[in-house]
Amino acid sequence: MKKVYIETYGCRMNLCDSEIILGILSGHGYGYTGVLADADCVILNGCSVREIGHTKVFERIAELEKTLASHVILIIAGCVSTQLDDSFFAAYPRVQLVIHSTAYKHIFEAIGALARNQSTHLIVTGDNNDEIYDRQLPLRLLEDNVTAAVTIMKGCDFYCSYCIEPYTRGGRTNRSYEGIMAEIADIRDKGYREITLFGHIVDLWEGEHDGGPKNFAQLLSDIAEACPEQRIKFISSHPLTFTDQMADVMARHKNIMRVAHLPVQSGSNEVLRRMNRKYTAAQFVERIYAIKEIVPDINIVTDIMVGFPGEKEKDFEATLKLLDTIRLTDINVFKFSMRKGTPTHKKYSDDVPPYVKEERRRKVYSLVEKIRNEAARNLVGTTQRVVAESRYKESRWWSGRDMCHRTIYFVPKQGMAIGEQCDIVVRGVEDGKLYGELCL
Ligand code: 5AD
Repeated sequence: MKKVYIETYGCRMNLCDSEIILGILSGHGYGYTGVLADADCVILNGCSVREIGHTKVFERIAELEKTLASHVILIIAGCVSTQLDDSFFAAYPRVQLVIHSTAYKHIFEAIGALARNQSTHLIVTGDNNDEIYDRQLPLRLLEDNVTAAVTIMKGCDFYCSYCIEPYTRGGRTNRSYEGIMAEIADIRDKGYREITLFGHIVDLWEGEHDGGPKNFAQLLSDIAEACPEQRIKFISSHPLTFTDQMADVMARHKNIMRVAHLPVQSGSNEVLRRMNRKYTAAQFVERIYAIKEIVPDINIVTDIMVGFPGEKEKDFEATLKLLDTIRLTDINVFKFSMRKGTPTHKKYSDDVPPYVKEERRRKVYSLVEKIRNEAARNLVGTTQRVVAESRYKESRWWSGRDMCHRTIYFVPKQGMAIGEQCDIVVRGVEDGKLYGELCL
C-alpha cells in the first residue's frame, strides 16, 4: 500500500483541508503515515496569511530537498500554492506537484501522472473556485476521538485591506445542509466528544433544507439537537455578522460551548477604517455587551493586530484602552505582516519598525495576562464541566477544556481516559493557569 505523510501549517482550516486530502487519497487506496521515512508521497499544506507561515514552508521545502528519498513525490498544497508559478520549480526542483486548495479531487490523478513520468512537474488549479468538498468525508488526523472539525463554509467577501485570504481562497462558498449533516452524523456515530464548525465567517453560512432557507443560527440549533452527547463550538465569527439569533440559540442549548471568536484587530477608529473593518471600536463594544446580555457566561476570544501601517502611539493606546474596557481574557496578538496583492500593499508602506511591533505585542500580552489573572481568581470555588484533552510526560497533571474553552489542570482519577467528561472544582490560579480538583 502506498503511504502519504502530511504536514499542516497555519489555521484550523488547513487542518480540515489536510483531512480532506487524506480522505480523498484513502478512497484511492492510500494509507496515512505519521512517519516521514515511510512515505511515498509527502505533502506540505502551507499557509500564507502571514509572512512567517510562508517562510516556514519554504524552509521546510529546503530541508526536505536534501533528505527525501528519490522515489518520494513532494507536494505543496494549501493557500501558499496559489502564489506559485512555474518559476518556483526552477528554484525548488525537488517539488513535483503544486496543487490549489480547490483541486484536491485531482490529487490522485496528478500523482499518477508524475509516477508514470508523464510530467516531471505539475501545477494543478481547480476547475471551480467554489469547490468545498461537499460530500467528501475526511480522514481525521486527531486520533484521540476528542474533537472533530467540520468545514461548513469557506472564503470571505469582506476584503479587509491587510488580508490575503479572499485572493487565495476566493469568495464565500457555503457547504450544503445535507453535506454538513452527513458529516455531523458520521462524527456523532464515531463517538467524538466535541464538534467544531469551521469557516472563515461561519455566521454568514446560508443553505436550504426541506424547501426552505436556513441560516447559521438554525443550522447550529439543528446540530446541537442532533448531537445531544457532543459539545459544539464554531469558529470564526465577525463583529458585524454575529447575530442575536445566534446568541439566543447558544443560550437555549446547553451543549453549545460558551465561546465565540470575534476579532476586533484594533481599538483605533482610524486604523479600523484603513483596515476596512467597517465598524468602530464603540460599535464593537456595543456588540460584545449585547451578546453578553444574552449569553452572560460567554468567553469572547479576539484577535489584535499591532503595527498596521501608520499605527501611531495614540492608535495603539486606543487598542489598550479598548482591551481594558472589554476585559476579554483570550486574545491572539499578531504583528502586522505585509502581504503582496492586498490593498494595504498597494496603498501603504510597512512603516512601523519591527521593534515597535514587538514592544506593542508585549504590552498587549502583559495587559491581557493581568486581566486573565483577575478573571481566573473569580473562578476559584466554581465547578466547571471539563473534557480531558492532554496529559504530560513526567507529570501527574492532565488538562482539559471547560465549556468556555478555558484550560484547567487537574489530577485524573484511576482509569480515566482522554476525552472523558468530568466536573472540576477550580481551586487556584498560578501564573494565570487554572488548577482544579475532580468532583468524585
Ligand atoms: N498580518 C498580520 N496578521 C494578520 N491576520 C490576517 N492577516 C494578517 C496580516 N497580513 C490575522 C488577523 C486575523 C487572524 C486570523 O490573522 O488578526 O484575525
